[in-house]
Amino acid sequence: MQRILVTGGAGFIGSAFVRHLVQHTDAVVTVLDKLTYAASLESLDGLPSERVSLVVGDVADQPLVDRLVGEHDAVVHLAAESHNDNSLTEPGPFIQTNIVGTFCVLEAARRHGTRLHHVSTDEVYGDLELDDPQRFTEATPYNPSSPYSAAKAGADHLVRAWVRSFGVRATISSCSNNYGPWQHVEKFVPRQVTNVLEGGRPKVYGTGANVRDWIHVADHAAAVWTILERGRLGETYLIGADGERTNLEVVAMILERLGRPADDYDLVAERAGHDLRYAIDSTKLRDELGWTPAYPDFAEGLAATIDWYVDHRDWWAPHKHATEAAYALRGQA
Ligand code: NAD
Ligand code: DAU
Repeated sequence: MQRILVTGGAGFIGSAFVRHLVQHTDAVVTVLDKLTYAASLESLDGLPSERVSLVVGDVADQPLVDRLVGEHDAVVHLAAESHNDNSLTEPGPFIQTNIVGTFCVLEAARRHGTRLHHVSTDEVYGDLELDDPQRFTEATPYNPSSPYSAAKAGADHLVRAWVRSFGVRATISSCSNNYGPWQHVEKFVPRQVTNVLEGGRPKVYGTGANVRDWIHVADHAAAVWTILERGRLGETYLIGADGERTNLEVVAMILERLGRPADDYDLVAERAGHDLRYAIDSTKLRDELGWTPAYPDFAEGLAATIDWYVDHRDWWAPHKHATEAAYALRGQA
């Protein structure tokens, strides 16, 4: 039996990871979460209270993090400000949570000798040309574009320095774009699905030619557990499910599933610094640790996700208006 601290465990991916732990391990879990706008306690509903408990707090609160990390066998660090568009409007919280928060986790892991897994993103590598035959690997140089991805890159560098200089027992994973249930309506897939369900149209930045490499959130969660269990200390593992699609292709799939014409979308203002393409080569994770995605078919996973949003209007509707108001202020509505 392991005691695992999950920072950001009330968020989209953190809650999927907590559900994975409850279903597939005998770990006892503590969630540390500040409960920002992005958190959802409903995503943790129904989990057994003897297995999962919640501490509401800030990952940048050093004394709190030190105490909690000292009480656990491992910490999986997901707490972050996660949305690129928000980082372009107000970068401050991204520096504070993503960099200072990671520093606090590292200092606590150093003091207590606690095993750490740090959850990062493929965005630290910047972007690829559409026709580049290469995909990102663990050897790709860092080249982040946005305040969000630069803050995540900064956090990754701190983790590597704490491993090398202080012997902290840590691994890092960098994953591509997640989709699935409980994702906030600010993100691409839920935004477009809920726009259509509200009688509006999908809003696509620029030309819509940008490519993202989609993975189901449950596959990301399973991969993180695999790395925590069997990953080599000090190593980085890329997580991806070969799901490259242009944004226009994803919008077309959403429109078709919801019975709307293929051209029923709007092109809106481009995102500043918009990365063109992400693509993950996950060979190391697959060959070394034997992980494979349980949702290899993006079309199938997306259809189930769309249906989930159709069935969970009560969950997302209260957040829709404020989210769209923020997009309107940025000229992206
Ligand atoms: P999310 O925004 O849905 O959830 C983030 C969670 O962190 C929320 O519950 C929020 O309340 C919490 N949080 C924010 N600031 C905090 C603070 N100061 N202290 C404590 N808790 C705080 O994000 P997500 O999409 O679930 O992403 C989780 C992690 O995975 C992030 O580190 C992100 O960089 C990484 N990631 C995300 C994706 C993706 O596609 N969404 C892909 C790769 C990596
Ligand atoms: O690659 C991993 C990253 O994926 C994570 O690190 C981030 O936390 C996560 O938010 C995500 O970043 P993106 O910026 O790729 O995701 P987002 O959902 O914001 O946008 C996906 C693509 O869709 C991107 O090319 C921008 C575009 N887009 C987005 C929105 C919200 C639109 O065209 N219209 C929109 O309304």
